[in-house]
Amino acid sequence: DASDIEKGTYPHYMLKEMDEQPGVVRKIIQEYSNEAGELTIDDQILEAIKAADRLYIIAAGTSYHAGLVGKQYFEKLAGIPVEVHISSEFGYNMPLLSEKPLFIFITQSGETADSRQVLVKVKELNYPALTITNVPGSTLSREADYTLLLHAGPEIAVASTKAYVAQVAVLAIAAYVTGKSLGKGVVLDLKQELAIVANGIQTIVDSKDELEQIAEDYLKIARNAFFIGRNLDFCVSVEGALKLKEISYIQAEGFAGGELKHGTIALIEEGTPVFALATQEQVALNIRGNVKEVVARGANACIISMEGLNEEGDRLVIPKVHTLLTPLVAVVPLQLISYYAALHRRCDVDKPRNLAKSVTVE
Ligand code: AGP
Repeated sequence: DASDIEKGTYPHYMLKEMDEQPGVVRKIIQEYSNEAGELTIDDQILEAIKAADRLYIIAAGTSYHAGLVGKQYFEKLAGIPVEVHISSEFGYNMPLLSEKPLFIFITQSGETADSRQVLVKVKELNYPALTITNVPGSTLSREADYTLLLHAGPEIAVASTKAYVAQVAVLAIAAYVTGKSLGKGVVLDLKQELAIVANGIQTIVDSKDELEQIAEDYLKIARNAFFIGRNLDFCVSVEGALKLKEISYIQAEGFAGGELKHGTIALIEEGTPVFALATQEQVALNIRGNVKEVVARGANACIISMEGLNEEGDRLVIPKVHTLLTPLVAVVPLQLISYYAALHRRCDVDKPRNLAKSVTVE
């Protein structure tokens, strides 16, 4: 049928979509460049962001995880404070709002009911809203004042991969352009750094054999798994855990390395898989300390570090990219490891049990 054609020679949409990620980043660079070749966003949207005294990011699932990264971008590059909220919680637990809020909805499908409910409320209150979505003309795009598109192409697999990378890249661009326009002394050359990211992702998707082996070594018989990181690596850890849960049904938890000793370390047993990310220079030593703690209790630790911060014994070293952009690259091995873990367990990778691609009910 038509869907088979679209999948081409790939056994699963998820694999195809992970492979598309370098191209998605390049496409976004192109779509968000002006005639002079500089990164840009629509003027009206730029003005709306600049007019806000605080941004409220609202999203669910993987899109929420992208929002956690986006918060750091807007705060570090543009100096605008940001709160990130889970859509379904926002209704009951609406924070005290600042004087000039801008709501940013991150949603691949643009159809997520939990997020839409918040948007309806926000519009009732007459606050401005921007939707970042992959689907032009989707409900959340139509009902918001502004839209930024992800340009990732249709995402069919239930497990979101290329949309996450696209969301993080678009958030980086929006924050960067805002920071420059506000004269925040932004020093990085984001366009060039994103091109380096695209190449870095390519290197990882070209290392499938190695990632399949990691999945086999760490997850073949695992009942549970832990993902730890600090700072931006923490944001990626929670996404890695979600990916593994939804397609392999292995119970997984992502958390901040420093939180281990506050409880979770009690769960570490002989052979428990622990994936530790070490891409953030500032905290690389601390996370290695956490790895020692879990290894001392029998954990089977898989360190994924970044070039320049790597040490002997690290299981995977990802290519070096700008420290703010590591989530775009570090997430990819976690996606692929989850994919192979699910395959080993003969799970239905593209259509995991109990899940729908977009959750249009509350
Ligand atoms: C991701 O792999 C999930 N399937 C899910 O968490 C998803 O990100 C969430 O339902 C939000 O969807 P949206 O981005 O289309 O709003």
